Amino acid sequence: MVKIFLDTANVSEVKYAADIGLIEGCTTNPTLIMKEGRDYNETLVEICNIVNGPVSAETVALDAEGMVREGEAFAKLHKNIIIKVPMTQQGMKACRLLTAKGIRVNVTLCFQANQALLAAKAGAFIISPFIGRLDDISQDGMQLIRDIRQIYDNYGFGTQILAASIRHPIHVLESAKAGANIATLPFKVWEQLFQHPLTDKGIKQFLDDWEKVPKKK
Ligand code: G3P
Repeated sequence: MVKIFLDTANVSEVKYAADIGLIEGCTTNPTLIMKEGRDYNETLVEICNIVNGPVSAETVALDAEGMVREGEAFAKLHKNIIIKVPMTQQGMKACRLLTAKGIRVNVTLCFQANQALLAAKAGAFIISPFIGRLDDISQDGMQLIRDIRQIYDNYGFGTQILAASIRHPIHVLESAKAGANIATLPFKVWEQLFQHPLTDKGIKQFLDDWEKVPKKK
């Protein structure tokens, strides 16, 4: 079952989407929080109080000890917080250590299937293949999701595949078909999922016709 997360640090967007009721988690990163110009911890807590699901907070240390320290501090903020570490050797060490402490880890910046295999072996709760950034350099981002799905199914890894760096609704459709567990969407793409010109046209026609129906006062 594909879950839908929002890829944002904008609290208004999270509030709006959560009110509609189809958001099961949220992913943030340093770039997204930089765009908001707000304190990261404060923003994370606000998001956690709105979203009933995992909220990813990203570490910025490059060494495992630093990642663990930052991860533990984030995890104390709210029970919904999960920790993003980069797909590096130090990141995988931090993934093992945080997982052993019962803190869930999202391994981010995954661009090849071998990285996803290593993340699963390190106990990652989530692996985040960045499909849009691969497409941007003329590589097939969706094939990466298919390869990871196959590897995880071959060996029964429970790590969830989160399709990240999504650019448009076709990425969501193809990720679902490829068996991704989660797709994290920029707010714009989340809105686009609802839309079709024939839906709008159909509503207009029904409303116009309804006006012509004789009604008893
Ligand atoms: O959350 C990480 C990922 O979704 C970033 O996407 O658009 O910066 O490639 P993007």
